[in-house]
Amino acid sequence: MSVIIFLLQLIAAVIMLPLHILHYLGIWDSFMKKYFPHFISKFCETYNKLMNDQKRSLFSNIPNFSGPTKQLRLLEIGCGSGANFRYYPRGCNVTCLDINPNFQRFLSKNQAENDHLTYESFVVASADNMMSIGDGSMDVVVCTLLVCSVPNIPAVVKEVKRVLRPGGAFYFIEHVADVNESSWISFFQKVLNPSWKLIFDGCSIRNTTWKDLENAKFSELNLRHITAPISMTLAKPHIIGYAVK
Ligand SMILES: C[S@@+](CC[C@H](N)C(=O)[O-])C[C@H]1O[C@@H](n2cnc3c(N)ncnc32)[C@H](O)[C@@H]1O
Ligand SMILES: *[C@@H]1O[C@H](CO)[C@@H](O)[C@H](O)[C@H]1NC(C)=O
Ligand SMILES: *[C@@H]1O[C@H](CO)[C@@H](O)[C@H](O)[C@H]1NC(C)=O
Ligand SMILES: *[C@@H]1O[C@H](CO)[C@@H](O)[C@H](O)[C@H]1NC(C)=O
Ligand SMILES: *[C@@H]1O[C@H](CO)[C@@H](O)[C@H](O)[C@H]1NC(C)=O
Repeated sequence: MSVIIFLLQLIAAVIMLPLHILHYLGIWDSFMKKYFPHFISKFCETYNKLMNDQKRSLFSNIPNFSGPTKQLRLLEIGCGSGANFRYYPRGCNVTCLDINPNFQRFLSKNQAENDHLTYESFVVASADNMMSIGDGSMDVVVCTLLVCSVPNIPAVVKEVKRVLRPGGAFYFIEHVADVNESSWISFFQKVLNPSWKLIFDGCSIRNTTWKDLENAKFSELNLRHITAPISMTLAKPHIIGYAVK
């Protein structure tokens, strides 16, 4: 089986050869960093429409986690263009963090459209090292479609736990590897992952993120595996839920 997967990966790599060459020359990556925000903003609008019910119901209990301060302090990591703002309760104090500063323009637009929230400055940093965010300074951390493209998921979860106050909550929606390793989806996730990563800015369709969340020892973990109603078959297996520190 693994030989077949390897051969098919090779065929995919040959088809993708022009992209691989641009990647090695560094041209593709700088192109992606610049134009990815345009693509993602469009993509996330579509994704929001399809996932509207799931997002609305997941984020509905955010007010349960308002802490000792007057306003609920919410950090969104890998915020992109801010597609989740519309689901946050009125009056939240939102800090946005993303590794790519080119999202600023798209972010500003979504902030202007969602003036039921107040916004702290946009932090440009990697979610696995958020030095400028203080220990226990957040009531809620949100992350959607982020960890597929970070190299070290346990480090992100560790940072999330650090910045949350005790009793604070971590909300997540992520596409993951199919749990059923003998399914066709799992087979094609293995075959096409290298090409997928190249096209979608390092995004992997094979991460077992639920294991990292289970290992992180939150005091409470509400996690469900769902099949997302989106068109990209290989990204349909999702996990959705929240964990309490
Ligand atoms: C697929 S987009 C999702 C955007 C947004 N969370 C949403 O659901 O609409 C992934 C985002 O994660 C950001 N990102 C990737 N690696 C990151 C990292 N190590 N730290 C912080 N953000 C990162 C990307 O710049 C991009 O904005
Ligand atoms: C949290 O919020 C939801 C929806 O607002 C509510 O139905 C639920 O009872 C709350 N749970 C707790 C533990 O407070
Ligand atoms: C919003 O949260 C940040 C980070 O915790 C904090 O520094 C700031 O004072 C808060 N702003 C308001 C208006 O509460
Ligand atoms: C995500 O999956 C890819 C492909 O299997 C792997 O290379 C990467 O290390 C995984 N990331 C994490 C943080 O586990
Ligand atoms: C896993 O996928 C295979 C192939 O599609 C199927 O026969 C099997 O019933 C699935 N197992 C589970 C636990 O869903």
